[in-house]
Amino acid sequence: MYYPEELVEEIRLRNDIVDVVSGYVRLQKKGSSHWGLCPFHNEKSPSFSVNGERQMYHCFGCGAGGNVYTFLMNYENYSFPEAVRFLADRAGISLPEPEESEEARKREGRRARLLEVNRAAAKFFYYQLRGPRGEAGRRYLENRRLTEETMRRFGLGFAGKNGAELVEYLHSRGFEDELIKEAGLAGYSERHGMTSQFWNRVMFPIQDINHKVIGFGGRVMGDGEPKYLNSPETPVFDKRRNLYGLNYARTARSGNIILCEGYMDVIAMHQAGFTQAVASLGTAFTPQQATLLRRYTDNVLLAYDSDGAGVKAALRGIGILREAGLTGRVIDMKPYKDPDEFMKALGREAFQERIEQAENSFFFEIRVLEGQFDMGDPEQKTRFHREIAKRLCGFSEEMERENYLQAVAAKYFISAESLRRLVVSYASQTGLPRPAQRPRSGVQRKAAPEENAKRAQRLLITWLMEAPGLYGRIRKYISPEDFTEELYRTVAERMFRELEQGDFRPAGIISMFSEEEQQREAASLFSASLPPMEAGQERDKAFRDVLLSVKRNSYQCHVAQMGTDVNALTQAIEGKKALEELARTHISVD
Ligand code: GTP
Ligand code: MN
Repeated sequence: MYYPEELVEEIRLRNDIVDVVSGYVRLQKKGSSHWGLCPFHNEKSPSFSVNGERQMYHCFGCGAGGNVYTFLMNYENYSFPEAVRFLADRAGISLPEPEESEEARKREGRRARLLEVNRAAAKFFYYQLRGPRGEAGRRYLENRRLTEETMRRFGLGFAGKNGAELVEYLHSRGFEDELIKEAGLAGYSERHGMTSQFWNRVMFPIQDINHKVIGFGGRVMGDGEPKYLNSPETPVFDKRRNLYGLNYARTARSGNIILCEGYMDVIAMHQAGFTQAVASLGTAFTPQQATLLRRYTDNVLLAYDSDGAGVKAALRGIGILREAGLTGRVIDMKPYKDPDEFMKALGREAFQERIEQAENSFFFEIRVLEGQFDMGDPEQKTRFHREIAKRLCGFSEEMERENYLQAVAAKYFISAESLRRLVVSYASQTGLPRPAQRPRSGVQRKAAPEENAKRAQRLLITWLMEAPGLYGRIRKYISPEDFTEELYRTVAERMFRELEQGDFRPAGIISMFSEEEQQREAASLFSASLPPMEAGQERDKAFRDVLLSVKRNSYQCHVAQMGTDVNALTQAIEGKKALEELARTHISVD
């Protein structure tokens, strides 16, 4: 949903940041700012400041920062439109109804009805579990060591032996057969009419990140097939794009997310305090789920079963995480089968240790590989080493490859020298992957020089946000065209325009973008903190270096384009002059 910029600004101005943040953090006024303990990292003395005048917050400890929207996006993990809706509601501003086609409206209506019927069914199961007929279910869950509180938190329920009752209940609440069938809650047969899909099972409602029930998993009590019966896919239940437990995990703020295989694993983990645990929905972990996780963390720990199938699933999961640009590490559950059993046997402290010892995914892969070769046989051992070399070739960045090479050589007592030769020989046969050719999507790791250029552009914007007065001193050297990153160029265009007009409102910048990825990126401009440095010369030099770096990159880009673009030649020449002049100029920051 796209909201017009003026509206987004109005909503922002009508929600005082000090008020909003006060709802989450205890603030004390000191000087022109309010101070409190930073909600984005652990600290004992306050370094989190909220500035009512600028309508921004900043943490001097961890560098988090932004406006009232970014605060909610980071604290509540809202998307930008969600934050807009939340704050509009808070300020009593009504948002325009999205303009939709007849068809889209119908589809929305249908989705809403499906969510309602799921909610009603969840309620029904919930009370069944707690009623006289839920005895068997209660006993089962208690045997599995779940507390009352946990059952309530996850909305666990029970589907009894009378398959007609659910349907009667749903009818009484005004839901029609068609809808009940579409939700996968009941099926029709000539003989029995409409009967519940779930029969004599404990019920696990599956919720989306907004706590809406989108489907169910039902488990037999004891042995029986199938062990879990899951709702079919429906317009509200997309198994590839949701994760069990994410509605709680998204605010766990533990710095990582733990990916498990089963619902029971997630529940056992949450009960033990690891509220960052999630699981896929009865199907293998998908790239879409990885993308979803990337919203919340870049550090994923795999807590898969320790058996052969679990290891295989973990290997697949690692690949998917890597494609999505996430770091994966693997938690060793041995000698237990899964997190649920581990927790019951050894408890939370032991698990915490396992988290800390979680294995880097590359080493995990190599270790699994090792098991496939007989190290006593020189022939097989050589093949193992070749296989390692082959995998090392997967790192396109030399530094990273070399670091892994040395670590793996030390670990497996291979001479680093000969392993390096193997890598070179392997690479010369097949070629090292060049970064640009890596088949990846979304955020990818870019080549190092590009990263540097991007970093410099980001830093320059951050400098100007923190000290807008600097603009006057550099405006003759810099223009938005020097920002080769499109998003930064867009930001710079607006920023420079506002600075020229003496009406710079940094907090409004995020609101310019409608795509969530862009909003997050723009928001991160506010949280990028400048490296700590002494005032005076050191700061002057740091700032000049950033400015020079942006200029140099811009010049190089223009040079690179010269072959295809005549304007680029002019710009390149001008750029070179500016660069030379800049190199001679002293710019004082303070
Ligand atoms: P418990 O035996 O209750 O501890 O289950 P678990 O959570 O340990 O699950 P398990 O590791 O056996 O399976 C992992 C996940 O796979 C489950 O949470 C289900 O989502 C799914 N699953 C397991 N068995 C079945 C099945 O028979 N059918 C379907 N569709 N999914 C299943
Ligand atoms: Mn289990």
